[in-house]
Amino acid sequence: MSRAITLARIPEGVPQPGDFALVDATLPPVANDQLACVTRFISLDPYLRGVLSGRHLGHTLSIGEIVPGSCVAQVSASSSTEFAEGDWVVAESGWREAFVVPTNSVRKIALDLAPPSTALGVLGMPGLTAWAGITQLANVRAGETVLISAALGPVGSSAGQIAKLLGARVIGIAGGPEKCRKVEQHFGFDLCLDYKASDFAEHLASACPNGVDVYFDNVGGYVLECALSKLALKARVVLCGLIDQYNQSQRPPGPNLGPVIGARATLMGLVVYDFYPQFPEFLAQVGAWVKARKLTWLEDIAYGIEATPGAFCKLMSGNNFGKMLVAL
Ligand SMILES: NC(=O)c1ccc[n+]([C@@H]2O[C@H](COP(=O)([O-])OP(=O)(O)OC[C@H]3O[C@@H](n4cnc5c(N)ncnc54)[C@H](OP(=O)(O)O)[C@@H]3O)[C@@H](O)[C@H]2O)c1
Repeated sequence: MSRAITLARIPEGVPQPGDFALVDATLPPVANDQLACVTRFISLDPYLRGVLSGRHLGHTLSIGEIVPGSCVAQVSASSSTEFAEGDWVVAESGWREAFVVPTNSVRKIALDLAPPSTALGVLGMPGLTAWAGITQLANVRAGETVLISAALGPVGSSAGQIAKLLGARVIGIAGGPEKCRKVEQHFGFDLCLDYKASDFAEHLASACPNGVDVYFDNVGGYVLECALSKLALKARVVLCGLIDQYNQSQRPPGPNLGPVIGARATLMGLVVYDFYPQFPEFLAQVGAWVKARKLTWLEDIAYGIEATPGAFCKLMSGNNFGKMLVAL
């Protein structure tokens, strides 16, 4: 037996803990080429908000089903010679304390780079997203000005640090002075601007006197609109996420894309799935930076399976500080 979290009702607006239910789940016996695993960290990611409302391109979920998602787990029983008890793996097992999966559905974690939880952040899907946007789509070059929203999260913070390592000047955008301080001090951005401040637009203008060469957008809405008005000639804009809309049932009026045309800029949609074939290349470059501690991470950890809904609601209210995880 183990416990799991299911969807109790489809959230409206910002998710509430009551949208979820804690249930007992029975584990099947371990068959050939299967592993039994104990969850150590559950990854909470903004895309799950779309899954809960049936608005995600890759997943669907019905009421009563276990909420999906990635986790870091340890093997507790193995019928395969490839995996031993105690091995650390990444699995798409959802919000549950323990599970049994086919061996070919998990990825072993290299423990020589950083702690295992980073396989859900800087060295996992969010890190791959950041690396792909900065190096494969925007092709950031030394001396350029790069602007990044949701800068304290795992995608934004990794994107900013990678851009810095490539020689760019990096400006973050985050909600509130405390987050902005953390973006500058923990992640080494040149500057971070508070989009909740009434004079945000003026601060943005004075921070980018020659315009923005690359805008890596994680939020959409008002912040995107402000950033588009500051594009330099031949700017590139990576559209990575629209978290500003995820809690809304109606799509808000879109931003004015006129300045994109005026700046002859290129907008690029980023879907991380396209870059999984390049995962080894990503891990070689970013893993070396992480190992040398040239690139760091920040985790916001809640404890216990029963804390998972509350932690997800915290993420979707914008109150998380760094990669949102649940430790079991
Ligand atoms: N394209 C892809 O393939 C791909 C892959 C992975 C992630 N993404 C996207 O990348 C973005 C960042 O993801 P992440 O994992 O790094 O998460 P994250 O930054 O930790 O996400 C939560 C943060 O989003 C910000 N936010 C902005 N507007 C918000 C609003 N209206 N409501 C709630 N939060 C708001 C908040 O930070 P502030 O207080 O600083 O605003 C909040 O702390 C998300 O949009 C995600 O969907 C896309």
